[in-house]
Amino acid sequence: MRLCLFDAYGTLFDVHSAVRRHAAVLGPKAEPVSLMWRARQLEYSWVRSLAGRYVDFWQVTTDALDHSLAAHGIADPALRASLLDAYLGLEAYPEVLAVLMELRGAGVVTGILSNGSPMMLERAVKSAALAELLDGVVSVDELRVYKPDPRVYALACERFAAAPEDVAFVSSNAWDAAGAAAAGFRAHWVDRAGQPREYPDFGPVVPLTDLSTLPALVAAERP
Ligand code: LAC
Repeated sequence: MRLCLFDAYGTLFDVHSAVRRHAAVLGPKAEPVSLMWRARQLEYSWVRSLAGRYVDFWQVTTDALDHSLAAHGIADPALRASLLDAYLGLEAYPEVLAVLMELRGAGVVTGILSNGSPMMLERAVKSAALAELLDGVVSVDELRVYKPDPRVYALACERFAAAPEDVAFVSSNAWDAAGAAAAGFRAHWVDRAGQPREYPDFGPVVPLTDLSTLPALVAAERP
């Protein structure tokens, strides 16, 4: 079986599109608010995993937004509610639809492996009209631990009845691609900003500038 699994937030869905929708209200604070929201969201997921104090990714996302708004001196309950709502309907990157269609057309099984809670993932997939193009969506929620814990990647193999070497995994997060490489997946790192490589000792990772070259790569890597 050929299986292509995607990280969700930042890989299929543009996490900064929520703040962008309200950029006029936020003015010059829009970009720093969005960057801090994402950074704290990830940090909280790791800290909670390490401390054994899991709450789901929606709570983590809410806590991170509250921190970012407070840190920027913004106290606006209506804006907070709008930003959270926007996060449930993030924009997919422009090439996502075509890439998923091409993969499916070539007989590749497609899915998501994400830190997102089942509710968040369902809303995101539906709002970006991707449901018909995905064979499965796996959330870490049932394990109550976040990526890059190795158990998360093992759960995906179990769910899709796939061996790690049969999985092409795609993430824009270097630490997630590294976690997947360490789990024996064929890892691909979407590096839209041209960042230097991280965690090289975790295993081989194929860098991509966006998702458009993925179908050809997956076909070439055919086991
Ligand atoms: C996810 C986060 C890590 O979707 O982007 O799992």
